[in-house]
Amino acid sequence: MRKKIEIDNLPNHIAIIMDGNGRWAKKRGLPRSAGHRQGAKVVQDIAIACDKIGLAYLTVYAFSTENWKRPQKEINSLMSLIREFLEDTEKKFDKENIRIQTIGRTDRLDSDIIKGIKRTVQKNKHKTGLTFTLAIDYGSRDEIIHATKKIIDNNISSEKITEDLISSYLFTNQLPDPDLVIRPSGEQRLSNFLMWQASYAELWFSNILWPDFKMKHLKEAIKVYNQRDRRYGGVK
Ligand code: IPE
Ligand code: IPE
Ligand code: MG
Repeated sequence: MRKKIEIDNLPNHIAIIMDGNGRWAKKRGLPRSAGHRQGAKVVQDIAIACDKIGLAYLTVYAFSTENWKRPQKEINSLMSLIREFLEDTEKKFDKENIRIQTIGRTDRLDSDIIKGIKRTVQKNKHKTGLTFTLAIDYGSRDEIIHATKKIIDNNISSEKITEDLISSYLFTNQLPDPDLVIRPSGEQRLSNFLMWQASYAELWFSNILWPDFKMKHLKEAIKVYNQRDRRYGGVK
């Protein structure tokens, strides 16, 4: 059963680019991995709180197809953290009503991470509250290439190509388009996140670094979102 909605006019789907972990750590004289660790805690808290307020969909950018460019040491620590995150989330979300899924490539992830993802997804499959999607080794351009290859392999003829058909071949085919994309850390770009899906999303940027992100910031973003006039190219 869905929980009572405490906030008026909640967007249906919020997507977050969780950025600024490295800068958060640097400010404290800590290694970048400490920022990623704090960031992972924050996302668990935010997902639980989003379920409590009755949000239907939350999608978070955890690791991009471009993040493989980082030093191997940082990649290793991010992968270890993803492993730990999956285990910890399995325990922490046991009593929560949150469904978990992932989007992105799986062929470059270690087999134990794939196993961890499958286990966590399976364990929370029956839940009916928030759908919480983790984007891991995700990039929009890569997703569109992947979809195009599948469309060609399936011998789909050109007259059958529609927006709906392309959407159905994307990793996000089970998700509605995001209504609101949030990016903390001061950067104002999408960095290859949900480029097709966010065509008409409202964007909210903030200087807060992701490890400092709190529900009050999310509520602020929702407030601003509700003041926006979504015209989708039409007139009002
Ligand atoms: C976001 O924080 C986490 C990932 C991209 C995996 P960053 O690591 O990008 O932190 P900054 O942007 O360097 O501060
Ligand atoms: C985007 O952040 C990717 C994630 C948050 C996972 P980046 O830190 O990788 O983006 P850029 O390099 O600043 O565009
Ligand atoms: Mg960054």
